[in-house]
Amino acid sequence: MIQAAIFGFGNIGSGVATVLEENAGQIAKAVPGGIHVKYILDIREFPDSPFADRIVHDIDVILSDPEIKVVCETMGGKEPAFTFSKRALEKGISVCSSNKELVEAFGPQLLETAAAHGCSYLFEASVGGGIPLLTPLLQNLAQEDIQSVTGILNGTTNYILTKMERYGADYGQVLKEAQELGYAERNPAADVEGHDTGRKISILSSLISGKTVKFDDIHTEGITKITPADFVRAKAKGYSIKLLGVSRKCSAPDAPAGIRMEVMTAPFLVPEGHPLHSVSDVFNGVLVHGNMVDDVMFYGRGAGKLPTGSAVVADMILAAKSIGHTVPIQWEAEVLETAASSDCTNAFFVRMHAADAAKVHAAFGDCIDQVWSDETDAEFVFVTKPVKEGVFFDCLQRSGEALSVIRML
Ligand SMILES: NC(=O)c1ccc[n+]([C@@H]2O[C@H](COP(=O)([O-])OP(=O)(O)OC[C@H]3O[C@@H](n4cnc5c(N)ncnc54)[C@H](OP(=O)(O)O)[C@@H]3O)[C@@H](O)[C@H]2O)c1
Repeated sequence: MIQAAIFGFGNIGSGVATVLEENAGQIAKAVPGGIHVKYILDIREFPDSPFADRIVHDIDVILSDPEIKVVCETMGGKEPAFTFSKRALEKGISVCSSNKELVEAFGPQLLETAAAHGCSYLFEASVGGGIPLLTPLLQNLAQEDIQSVTGILNGTTNYILTKMERYGADYGQVLKEAQELGYAERNPAADVEGHDTGRKISILSSLISGKTVKFDDIHTEGITKITPADFVRAKAKGYSIKLLGVSRKCSAPDAPAGIRMEVMTAPFLVPEGHPLHSVSDVFNGVLVHGNMVDDVMFYGRGAGKLPTGSAVVADMILAAKSIGHTVPIQWEAEVLETAASSDCTNAFFVRMHAADAAKVHAAFGDCIDQVWSDETDAEFVFVTKPVKEGVFFDCLQRSGEALSVIRML
């Protein structure tokens, strides 16, 4: 039997405890004797919880117990999660985390600490919640040259966009409903401004490149400017609008030397028939393209107590089966220079006032791929061919004030 501890008994930490308890028989098939939660670290008491007798408030109780071999870090935030994780690893205790903020900021450092002390730092649940994604990417797809990863990585924003599309509802109204239903936080900024997706696509980009792609270095745009009118235009042409994390190898022959990847978070028009088009509500979907395997799609619940708890437990099982050595994850601290957003290539959907149509034609010329409006329209709606973003925004500046600008997949 493996003795374990949970750092942070909130939503996910309590999910981990439930999965370990309710699926104990299943887990014992993978880890002889199973995984037993000996301690739970939290600030509060939980007198009504069946785990009340395991709650401790002092991390040293856990770190000084030589029986503890694995912990999960489900506290969230950078501190004290970083210090607690590092101290556990330095004691040779493997740490399994759901904390994307910590993983994005300190992943390489914690992996190095784990390797130096013969234990593991694992973080499957930090991206895609309950979807097995990082382990398949690192193991089953280790032989692949991954050319792109494109993902709907945030359930809250996907829920909001799905409702806007289905009911023609306004962003603010759907956000309020999502908050009432508990799908969106009181302070929704991390989700709706794209930061959560941005951190996840940074982690994915780091794992596929083996170097560090910093969240702060990538273009991050949220969903707050999407309107019902955008959905009407998109739907009429068979497109949906999704917030995507996109990471792809530069294929342009004129890509600046040394730059290998374009990484960004932004809303995109996704065409019917694309595997991500039908990923709706709180679900997440991630499309990985390898040079040999072609497209591989991952789909499931990207958040929630039990799905995310299940992914943390998967890591705890792997850590328990790997006691005495380190599960290798290639992620160096060296920062990978990604393409500036002005050098990224995308096609765009644009809504302008009809009065600006002539200026648009003069500025964009051949870059216009299709016009989606007619002469009777109060708007001039067009889509471009794939174009360097710097060129696109130069042309746009000469065209007047856009009502809406959304990238196209
Ligand atoms: N919620 C999801 O669906 C989901 C999905 C994937 C990943 N994640 C990630 O998983 C992590 C945890 O999320 P969550 O939703 O479970 O958050 P949560 O419900 O707020 O749980 C965090 C728990 O940690 C406790 N805690 C905070 N600081 C502590 C400290 N210094 N010592 C001991 N305990 C401390 C908190 O106590 P207090 O409540 O008293 O502060 C709380 O009980 C986050 O990084 C999140 O991004 C969440």
